[in-house]
Amino acid sequence: MTVWIGTSWKMNKTLAEATDWAQGLAEALSGRQLDQVQPFVIPPATAIAAVAQALSEEPRVLVGAQNAHWEPAGAWTGEVSVPQVADAGARIVEIGHSERREHFAETDETVRAKVAATLAHGLIPLLCIGEPGAVKDAGGSTRFVLDQAHRALEGLEEEQLGRVLIAYEPIWAIGEHGRPATVAELEEPFTALGAAYGHQVQGLLYGGSVNLDNAAELLGIAHVAGLFVGRTAWQLEGYLRLLEIAADHSTRPR
Ligand code: 13P
Repeated sequence: MTVWIGTSWKMNKTLAEATDWAQGLAEALSGRQLDQVQPFVIPPATAIAAVAQALSEEPRVLVGAQNAHWEPAGAWTGEVSVPQVADAGARIVEIGHSERREHFAETDETVRAKVAATLAHGLIPLLCIGEPGAVKDAGGSTRFVLDQAHRALEGLEEEQLGRVLIAYEPIWAIGEHGRPATVAELEEPFTALGAAYGHQVQGLLYGGSVNLDNAAELLGIAHVAGLFVGRTAWQLEGYLRLLEIAADHSTRPR
């Protein structure tokens, strides 16, 4: 089973910092087996080309964009399109992260349009879904994320769905103010997502306060095929440790 280990840097890192991280990764991976681990890195738009360039000798690492518009070109000041991020070296487009839904008016409609545009241009959509704390407290997590995924993916053909990655990132678990989810809290939503999408999409990932202490147990949850990581992976050492944890996991007999 492929284990995806990805990081989004959100709005962090200068070009120099981004290049250092990516060059360091290329050096660390050089000549090394990745077992069944699939690494990916999603820099801010300014650094996609530099990171892709720094990783040109290490094409096993996929580079992504944190967002892209649904139209290929046009009068959309401040936006970048899927062909533009592809031109810069991106092969994944992250879509619908909760920070974009909350602060930048990302809706189910725009998410859906961006998933379709990403597929149309041959890139991998990384669809982010996740419920707010109030929904979780009311017992509605599973219904909420299933509905969110359904609204983004409904109507896609089997072959298109087969290229999609889904990252379940509960909003209450993300970032400095988040608290790590427990395995028990994640079992029900992943069971439901696994039943609905497990065999149809390229992978179901977990994200939200992943750290070096909880990564192994999170990877052990049924239907979890990878981790999507913020803070723990912004320092290269943290990311490399996560790759090792994933490699151990992928080669463990089950
Ligand atoms: P943290 O790992 O910092 O909680 O961020 C998760 C995330 O939002 C990845 O997209």
